[in-house]
Amino acid sequence: MRLTLRFRKSQAGITFAGFTRRTARDGGFLAGKRPDFVEADLPRELTMQNDREYAPETLTVHAGIVDQQFHPVIPPIYQVSTFAFETAEHGAALFAGEGKGYIYSRMGNPTVEAAEKSVATLEGGFGALACGSGMAAIHTALGALLSAGDHVVCSDAVYGPTCTLVGSFLSRFGIESTFVDSSNTKAVEKAIKPNTKVIFVETPGNPTLVITDLEAVAKIAHKNDALLVVDNTFMSPLLQQPLAHGADIVVHSLTKFLNGHADVVGGMIVTKTESQYATMRKCLNHFGGVLPPFESFLVHRGIKTLGLRMKRHCENAMKIAEHLEAHAEVEWVRFPGLKSHPQHEIARKQMNGPGAIISFELKGGLEAGRRMMNAVRLCGLAVSLGGVETLIQHPASMTHASMGREARERARVTDGLVRLSVGIEDVDDLLADIDQALEAAATARTTSREDVPAT
Ligand SMILES: Cc1ncc(COP(=O)(O)O)c(C=O)c1O
Repeated sequence: MRLTLRFRKSQAGITFAGFTRRTARDGGFLAGKRPDFVEADLPRELTMQNDREYAPETLTVHAGIVDQQFHPVIPPIYQVSTFAFETAEHGAALFAGEGKGYIYSRMGNPTVEAAEKSVATLEGGFGALACGSGMAAIHTALGALLSAGDHVVCSDAVYGPTCTLVGSFLSRFGIESTFVDSSNTKAVEKAIKPNTKVIFVETPGNPTLVITDLEAVAKIAHKNDALLVVDNTFMSPLLQQPLAHGADIVVHSLTKFLNGHADVVGGMIVTKTESQYATMRKCLNHFGGVLPPFESFLVHRGIKTLGLRMKRHCENAMKIAEHLEAHAEVEWVRFPGLKSHPQHEIARKQMNGPGAIISFELKGGLEAGRRMMNAVRLCGLAVSLGGVETLIQHPASMTHASMGREARERARVTDGLVRLSVGIEDVDDLLADIDQALEAAATARTTSREDVPAT
C-alpha cells in the first residue's frame, strides 16, 4: 500500500499550551486528495507502508524527501547551478515544461524542492516556492498578483519592512494601498475598492499580536474577487493553517520558527491551487530571489524538529506571559494565550497554540524597557524571532523603525513596547533572568533620567 501524507482527522490529546488541536479534525483541508507529487516523490521504503493519515509531527519528519535514485534518509545538498540534459530533445522538453529533470538552480533544484514540498505538505497547499528571505517571498507574491492600477488592503500590524514595501515601494509602480486594523472585520470591508485585488494580513501581527479572523476576512476577499494572502510566520503551519481557513496564499519568513536555529535567512510562498503555483513560479524565475541549496537543506533539517520545538516554545511562553502579567513592573502584556488578549477567542478558534511571541510594556515606559534590555543575561538582545534561543528587542527603534512614527502609532506600536521571542530553554532559567532584568527596569521609576548612562 502507498503512504498517504495526510493529517489525521482526529488529533485528540495533542495540544500546545492548553489550546485544542483542530487541524482537519472536521474533515478539513488535508482530508481531501493531496497533490500527486507528495505520494509520487516518496522513497520506495515509505511507499511500502500502510495507508494512514499522519499527524503533523510525523509529516515534519518525513515530508519532502525527493531523491528517487539512492533513497537517502535526508535530502542531499545539490550544490550545483546547472544540470546536464540527456539529449537535446530532453533539454527542449524540460524547457517546454514536459518530462522529468532539472534545468538550472534558479528554476528548480532537488534540495530546494525538498524544503518546498515539506512546507507545502504542512500548510496543505498545492505547492511552495522557496525564496531568499521572508521579504523576497512577500515581494514575489505581491509582485505576481498585483499590477499598476490595483489596490491592496493591508493590515496595519505587519512587520515594519512589509508596511514600507506595500505603502512606499509598491506605490512607485502604481499600486495603491489602504492600511486597516484587520482585527476589525468591518474596517476591512470598508477599505475594499473596486480595484482591490489582494488583502494582506499577518496574524498574529508583528509586534502587537493583533489577531485577524481569517475566515471572516477570506469571505470579504472572495466576495470582492480579491485574494487573501497571509503571513503565517509567527505561527508556523503547526499552529495555524491559513489555507484551511479560506486564505489563498501563505507566506513565511523561514528565518523564524520553520528553520528555528537562527542560521538561515529565507522565505516561502505556499499556494492553494496549481494555477497560482504556476503564476508564482514564473514570477520567481524572473524576479530571481530564490533560496540556495545549502540554506534549503538547513531549513528542511530544521523542520524535522518543528513539532517538539513549537510545543516547548508555547509552554514556555504561556508561563512567561502569565508571570509578566502578574508582575508589579508590567503595565500590560499581549499574548494570544492570555484571556486578556482582545481576540483570545478568535485565537482559540483558528490557532492550535498561542505561539511564543510576547509583547509588553513596562510601567516605567521606554526607559524601563531600555534598562531591562540592557540587563538581560540569558535572553539575547537581538532582532528576529522563532529560534531556539530567547531574544528580546525594542520594535520602535529596531524592527519597526523604518515605518516612521505615524505608521507605528496607527499600528499601536508604542515607544515602550518590548518584544520577547521565547525560546526552548528551561523556563525557570528564563524566568530568573527576566526577574532580575525587571528589577533593573524598576530603577527607571526611582531614578531621574539624568542618572541613566547613555548607550
Ligand atoms: C512576520 C514577519 N514576516 C516577514 C519577515 C521578513 O522575513 P525575513 O527577515 O526573512 O526577510 C519578518 C522578519 O522579522 C517577520 O517577522
